Amino acid sequence: MSLTMEAILQQARPVLPVLVIEDVGSALALAQALHAGGIRVLEVTLRTPRALEAVSIIRRELPDLIVGAGTLIHAEQFLEARDAGAQFAVSPGCTERLALAAENVQMPYLPGVLTPSEVLLALEYGYRSLKLFPANGTGSVKMLKSLKGPFTGIRFCPTGGINVDNLLTFLRLPNVACVGGTWIAPADLVKARAWDQITQLASEACSLAASLDAPR
Ligand code: 3PG
Repeated sequence: MSLTMEAILQQARPVLPVLVIEDVGSALALAQALHAGGIRVLEVTLRTPRALEAVSIIRRELPDLIVGAGTLIHAEQFLEARDAGAQFAVSPGCTERLALAAENVQMPYLPGVLTPSEVLLALEYGYRSLKLFPANGTGSVKMLKSLKGPFTGIRFCPTGGINVDNLLTFLRLPNVACVGGTWIAPADLVKARAWDQITQLASEACSLAASLDAPR
């Protein structure tokens, strides 16, 4: 069954971890630690030399997780990501070439936007689930509120500058599907192989959001 980006973000709520995997030997343990903390979807950024290998390993060993490839900034990377087993792709911005590349490989795609014109560009290609990047602080909360009016039905995943302190402010917005971020798997903890602490960060975020999302 093929997934839609909308369904993937729904699964990802509250947090889509943005992973920078320097040591491919740690990929599986890192994904397991996040999974144990309640994470169901993650994004491996193609910022490190063996990131695609990390995608394949996590996909093979943890079939319950949904694994995407992030930081796609060249059209050719879409095919590479798909061949490595990535189930969706994420970019920090959106260009016509990237939007077409995603369409060509038929992969769910989360393009990045920061302005109404960029939302319109993404919409022209049929993308209605968008990454708001960089979402730094209160300015982005105001912007998301403003975007709600003209862009009915568009769902955002604000990323960049999100942490446990501002997580709920974003998740409360009706046009926010989930948030993304690296804070949940910080480089120092990954390097130290502090898997329990990473599990704790994930479960802290999930519990916070559960209080928000619980039926009233
Ligand atoms: C991304 O690529 O989405 C960002 O690097 C994540 O930003 P953060 O480190 O502030 O979470």
